[in-house]
Amino acid sequence: MTHYGKLRLGVNIDHVATVRNARGGARPDPVRAALLAIEAGADGITAHLREDRRHIRDEDMRRLKEAISKPLNFEMAATEQMLDIALSVAPHACCLVPEKRTERTTEGGLDVVGGFAYLKPFVAELGRAGVRVSLFIEPEAEALEAAVALGAPVVELHTGAWCHAIETGEAARGQGEFERLRTAARKAASLGLECHAGHGLDFDTARLIVGFPEIVELNIGHFLIGEAIFVGLAESVRLMRKAMDEGRAAVAV
Ligand code: PXP
Repeated sequence: MTHYGKLRLGVNIDHVATVRNARGGARPDPVRAALLAIEAGADGITAHLREDRRHIRDEDMRRLKEAISKPLNFEMAATEQMLDIALSVAPHACCLVPEKRTERTTEGGLDVVGGFAYLKPFVAELGRAGVRVSLFIEPEAEALEAAVALGAPVVELHTGAWCHAIETGEAARGQGEFERLRTAARKAASLGLECHAGHGLDFDTARLIVGFPEIVELNIGHFLIGEAIFVGLAESVRLMRKAMDEGRAAVAV
């Protein structure tokens, strides 16, 4: 019998800050959104402090850490400046992601093979500080093996290519990407890595991806905040939690 453990939903509140920053004031407040998301069923809050501070700012991270009762997942590029900030905020977890100034969102996984030597001290230092490190990677065997060699306990599989193929109606490519994710999730578990997934997920794709028993956490932002415009943030989070629970119940035997 396959073991299907507790599945966690991490709500990414970056785009509440995007809307706030469009006017330069204090509203809408991402901390208020985080508290509401937790009340509605989120198991943790994710926020990405980008080098250009286009949405979340340093002060948001500190306020989130102070205010929330659930784990804070600090997404960041592996830079000295971000490492200093993360160590001072002391979040529950850090997810290391690649970052390009010109991208609209995190476009691909971290180059853990090519960037191995560069990344190693970041993983080590965060780990020594008691922060759970995850690496945002493409669903590829070499990336998973490099994650183990780097000493990271967690990987987050980039679901963007799969979600994009579904959105654009490319069924064959979508199926291929889905199988690539399935293979990677299995390999992650066999290597002893905790496996998360995220990027571009909506109700339908979240419902499907939780069919992989190895996945224990999804991190979802843009869709949930967009949906909140129509149904409210609490309902958006509640419906996502329901989709995840239904998806897992459908395959748990
Ligand atoms: N996980 C990681 C590592 C990310 O970088 C992002 C995007 O910031 C997400 C999950 C969430 O993606 P989305 O906003 O498309 O749901």
